[in-house]
Amino acid sequence: MLHDNKIWMAVGDRPVYLLPNQANRHGLIAGASGTGKTITLKVMAESFSALGVPVFLADIKSDLAGMCLPGEDSESMQKRIAKLGLGEHFSYTSFPTRFWDIWGEFGHPVKTTVTDMGPYLLARLLDLTEVQSDALQMIFRIADEQGMLLLDLKDLRSMVRYVGENRKTFANEYGSVAPQTIGALQRSLLALEDSGGDLFFGEPALDIFDWIRTDSTGRGYINILHSVKLAQNPTLYTTFMLWMLSELYERMPEAGDLDKPRIVFFFDEAHMLFTDAPKALLQKVEQIIKLIRSKGIGIYFISQSPSDLPDPVLAQLSNRVQHALRAYTPAEQKAVRTAADTFRTNPNFDTKEVITELGTGEALVSFLDETGAPGIVERAWILPPQSKMGTITDEQRKKVIDNSDLFIKYSQQIDRESAYELLTKEEEAKQAAAEKAEKEKADAEAAKKAEKEAKAAAKTKKTEKNVVTKAIERTANSALSAIGRELGRSIIRGLFGSSK
Ligand SMILES: Nc1ncnc2c1ncn2[C@@H]1O[C@H](COP(=O)(O)OP(=O)(O)OP(=O)(O)O)[C@@H](O)[C@H]1O
Ligand SMILES: [Mg+2]
Repeated sequence: MLHDNKIWMAVGDRPVYLLPNQANRHGLIAGASGTGKTITLKVMAESFSALGVPVFLADIKSDLAGMCLPGEDSESMQKRIAKLGLGEHFSYTSFPTRFWDIWGEFGHPVKTTVTDMGPYLLARLLDLTEVQSDALQMIFRIADEQGMLLLDLKDLRSMVRYVGENRKTFANEYGSVAPQTIGALQRSLLALEDSGGDLFFGEPALDIFDWIRTDSTGRGYINILHSVKLAQNPTLYTTFMLWMLSELYERMPEAGDLDKPRIVFFFDEAHMLFTDAPKALLQKVEQIIKLIRSKGIGIYFISQSPSDLPDPVLAQLSNRVQHALRAYTPAEQKAVRTAADTFRTNPNFDTKEVITELGTGEALVSFLDETGAPGIVERAWILPPQSKMGTITDEQRKKVIDNSDLFIKYSQQIDRESAYELLTKEEEAKQAAAEKAEKEKADAEAAKKAEKEAKAAAKTKKTEKNVVTKAIERTANSALSAIGRELGRSIIRGLFGSSK
């Protein structure tokens, strides 16, 4: 809820506000299972929307979809409203919501092109070895420099095959690649296709600016990515979240200090990103979190315990809501100490003790103050959400999707001419030329025979031979010239290797 243009998040000894001009300094919502993290996220997202700031969030349990409907009154809600003294400040209301789904079932499809995603994230998605990743980099370099468009996985497969077949031609300029590596890449690509990964790639590709929209009344759209299925595959989930972050980062111009963020991105189940992540990836994540702030983008991580996140990342999450943690095992006790240590202490209570005592929907809260310094930690009750808690029916969802002004834009399947089509055409042209050459050879032989019978045929033969040479020359050059026909510009890649 908004109060004096500030985000009213909680009530403790006094009201606790998240300041919009500090909201791009990132945040963390932590707490054990069932302690109120999702509702806190909801309350925050609702307020950003009311403030005119669009948000993006991944809905892992499908319990965020209810934001498109007004909340339902209940005894427990009335109790909380009374306890927090919200009175007539509080009303049940819905928020402008857009549903997205990589599989296109529970929302507008979210797709990207292989060219856009780039070799770095794709190598992660395919779980490639270092040698295979290097080969993939090289294949992208060839495609990028030749301006060859890779839209979907079949384009990439054609490109891999093409580079494999012409290994010797490319070796001088790009380095050598072993046939076994090409084979392994082909197999990984097939495996990704089999697991449904091919659906992510293609067009219409997501236009990230469609997330950064407000409705006719000036409220920010809440973009909900249906992630029930997606989150079952942590690599897929985190790669996609990283790709979205890198899209935002690469496409958004520098903003300097703004009075509110341009968009806020919530990263639920954030521990998935950091478990077993290679060091190079962690460094990139740290870097992007650091840099994205100046573009007016706030990132909020949601995880059970702050110790799920690496210290350099944690150090950048300035706005914090810590729900209850358990402290039974030594590891849990350590996590509680870590969580407590990140707060600026309040002389009225022992942070470490309180963390284990908090009730559902109660939290330790510390947001940045006007000067950008962390506020003293407060023990406070998070406001109840104004929209419906929990999920919605399929019909309710369908209504939102069908009525969306983006429906038409994202429901069309496009398959423009790209690497697959061009290289297939090349293949066909090669075959046709070979057949033609064969036929002409046979004709020539026949003609030779005929020559003995009639000298006049010699002239015709000469012309035919000319045609053969030309066809062969054309085939040799055609693969490269075909590449030149597409896109026609080389691609510059950004921090995560996605195209700029
Ligand atoms: N601020 C709040 N106002 C009203 N009810 C709340 C609030 N916070 C939590 N609750 C109640 O507690 C329940 C559990 O909260 P929530 O779903 O946010 O927990 P969680 O930490 O996200 O759990 P999990 O780790 O399982 O996802 C909610 O369904 C709701 O009934
Ligand atoms: Mg939750």
